[in-house]
Amino acid sequence: MVNEAALDAFYKTVDQNQDDYVERLREAVAIPSISSMVDHRDDVVRMSHWLTSLFEKLGIKYEVRDIGSHVMDNVDLKLPPIILGTYGNDPNKKTILVYGHYDVQPALLEDGWSSKPFDMIESPKGQLIGRGASDDKGPIIGWLNAIEAHQNAEIDFPVNLKICFEGMEENGSEGLEKLIANEADKYFKGVDAVCISDNYWLGVTKPCLTYGLRGICAYKVTVCGPGKDLHSGVFGGTVHEPMTDLFHLFSKLVTPNGDILIPGINDDVAPLTDEENQAYQSLEFSLSELHSAIESKTNIYDNEIETLQHRWRYPSLSIHGIEGAFSSSGFKTVLPAKVSGKFSIRIVPNMEPKRVDELVEKFLKDEFAKLGSKNTLSTECLHSGKAWLANPNHWNYVAASKAVERIFKCKPDLTREGGSIPVTLTFQDALNKNVLLLPMGRGDDGAHSINEKLDRSNYIQGIKLFGAYLHEIASCKAE
Ligand code: BES
Ligand code: ZN
Repeated sequence: MVNEAALDAFYKTVDQNQDDYVERLREAVAIPSISSMVDHRDDVVRMSHWLTSLFEKLGIKYEVRDIGSHVMDNVDLKLPPIILGTYGNDPNKKTILVYGHYDVQPALLEDGWSSKPFDMIESPKGQLIGRGASDDKGPIIGWLNAIEAHQNAEIDFPVNLKICFEGMEENGSEGLEKLIANEADKYFKGVDAVCISDNYWLGVTKPCLTYGLRGICAYKVTVCGPGKDLHSGVFGGTVHEPMTDLFHLFSKLVTPNGDILIPGINDDVAPLTDEENQAYQSLEFSLSELHSAIESKTNIYDNEIETLQHRWRYPSLSIHGIEGAFSSSGFKTVLPAKVSGKFSIRIVPNMEPKRVDELVEKFLKDEFAKLGSKNTLSTECLHSGKAWLANPNHWNYVAASKAVERIFKCKPDLTREGGSIPVTLTFQDALNKNVLLLPMGRGDDGAHSINEKLDRSNYIQGIKLFGAYLHEIASCKAE
């Protein structure tokens, strides 16, 4: 039985302290912990210190795990540490493992933000705007606020919590898989289920629980030519140009309608079953919500179901950018000597990263050979992770569903998503436990985009949701 009086006291405390929670998020957003930029690595480490001082304040036992170094942009860098926390150790309680990430995507005012990305502001509509507000600082701080609110309300914490916060999620989670494999029987021993809040509602009004994600294979394709950048007036027309080669290659990867042209890539895609198809019919999702999330009407499919299927259960290929090419305003009549194009393929059940790598490499090599260029081509897989699917009938999901009903007075949608969190599958396989994604933010939060935000109400209700979920876990029967 859930202790209703305790939960009510918890909700009240969360409401009373909400301004402090917002200030806490503001402090965290102010640390530009961008994991993919060499110059910001110290900030990522600073963010880990910020978190451990909060752990100390809240009496959470922790270990800061050094996971070695890696090379990024030809620089040898220490990887940001993984923070492991333990809150409570009562053999009569269930143990829930909470994962989140304290690194963020890059953000510049010049990208089109309407306010400075690392100075969080609150809009008149109650949107907390700043890089990382929704992905994933709001959610990770949400768990810590939930702990604090139990302390302030002087109520018993319903479960033992294990915490795993990393600082490399946006950059391929390097080092994490190994740590989890090593710690499965040690630090993570005794974990009954896993909860991750690093995704978003489908739309803007209804909460969801998410039981599937696409995986990812990320590539960097480099074409090298002249020994240095050249004047295009002097050398244009007389040398093979790396940019021209790269454009030819990239134009062959995918059609403007999103069809991937790499032969064999769709062969392993799990077929759509009738049962699965049926599940799409009852979801609350409208194209108008999609239009507001993308701030345009540039959708490929003109119906909701195909849109969701292509987001959740079919692969996609996106071209992200070109390193080495002139990209500033103004006009530079240059012929870049070396360019690297970056693209990724979101992969789905039953695609295997190794097979995808083989197909991609062969395709690019064959197509490059057809160009007859004297330049050289190299393809590098930067990181990869398989798709993830969990059992949404598990007690972990039942508890979360009841918690959603408590806070939002409706049953959550059961969704899959198109983004990737490689650690979902790692935890599921290494610990052999159920993994649940319990989002805090809305579908229009703009993660990875400009003006990323978390609605104040989602933040505050999200803290309550996390607490209610843990209370439901404590009172549910584990089969
Ligand atoms: N929070 C996202 C994952 C996500 C996105 C879940 C959309 C559900 C819907 C996460 O922080 C993220 O962006 N991950 C990267 C992983 C990649 C770098 C391996 C991603 O999906 O691009
Ligand atoms: Zn995230």
